[in-house]
Amino acid sequence: MVFEVVTSADTPELDDQTAEALREVWPEFIFHDPTSRAYVGRVETYFPRFDLRLLDDGAVVAGAWGVPLRWDGTVADLPDGYDGSLVRSVEDHERGVAPNTLSIMAAAVAAGRQGGGLAGRVLTALRERATEAGLTAVICPVRPTLKTRYPLQSMADFATWRRDDGLHLDPWIRTHQRLGATVLVPALRSMIIEGTVAEWESWTELAFPQSGDYVVPQALATVHIDRDADHGRYQEPNLWMRHR
Ligand SMILES: CC(C)(COP(=O)(O)OP(=O)(O)OC[C@H]1O[C@@H](n2cnc3c(N)ncnc32)[C@H](O)[C@@H]1OP(=O)(O)O)[C@@H](O)C(=O)NCCC(=O)NCCS
Repeated sequence: MVFEVVTSADTPELDDQTAEALREVWPEFIFHDPTSRAYVGRVETYFPRFDLRLLDDGAVVAGAWGVPLRWDGTVADLPDGYDGSLVRSVEDHERGVAPNTLSIMAAAVAAGRQGGGLAGRVLTALRERATEAGLTAVICPVRPTLKTRYPLQSMADFATWRRDDGLHLDPWIRTHQRLGATVLVPALRSMIIEGTVAEWESWTELAFPQSGDYVVPQALATVHIDRDADHGRYQEPNLWMRHR
C-alpha cells in the first residue's frame, strides 16, 4: 500500500473514478439538497485545495472536503450546519471576509475499504491543509453513521450516548474523538431536502401512500410527507464537533 493525498483540482483525470468509488456510499436523497446544488459549484471553484482524495497505489480509496469560513469561536456563531457552512464560506469569500476556520463537510471511504482507518488518514490530511492555510480552528457538522438506526431519537439525546470506555457509541463520532475532537452542540437544521412525493418515492424506493412521518433508510430523522401539498421534507440533524 502506497498512500498519497491529492486535490481534486490536481487530478481531474480521477473525477470519474472518484464518483464511482464514493458515490455509492451515500443515499440518493443526499444529492438533492438545493443549497448544495446552488453553492457547490462555487465551492469547487473557490476552494479546491480543501477537496482531497486519498489514493492507494494510484486508486481512489477515500475522499474528504471542507470549506473555509469566518467563525468567532462561540457556539452562538456556528453556522446552521452543512448548508449553513456552504453558504457562509461562499458569501465570506465573495465579500472578501478572511476565513479563520475550516468546516469539514464530508468524508467517504470506498465500500470495500471501510473500517481500516482511512477516514482518519484523509481527515488528518485535511486538518494539515487547514493549518498550512493559516486557519486556526477546524469544525465539522458530523453525520453520525449509527444515527441512521435511531431516526426517532433526538440528536440531543443521541449526542449523549457513550460506551463504558467513555467514547461515543457512534463509530464515526469515535473516529473524530480519536483525532482529538470534542462535541459542541447538535446542528438541528444541518441540511434541508425537499421534493415532490414522487421524487421522494424514487429517491428512497419506498411508497408513501398517505401523509405522515416516515422512517427512510439511511436518514438520520424521519421524512415528512404531505400528499395534499405533494411535498416531502427532510431536515437532517448533524452534530457539531470541534477538532483540536
Ligand atoms: C464513516 C466513514 C467515513 C468511516 O470511514 P472508515 O475509514 O471506515 O473509518 P474507521 O476505519 O476510522 O472506522 C471508524 C469506526 O467505524 C467502524 N466502521 C467502519 N466501517 C463500518 C461499517 N461499514 N459498518 C460498521 N462499522 C464500521 C469501525 O469499526 C470503527 O469503529 P471502532 O471505533 O470500533 O474501531 C465510512 O464508513 C464511510 O464512508 N461511510 C459512508 C459515508 C459517510 O457516512 N460519511 C460520514 C458522514 S460525512
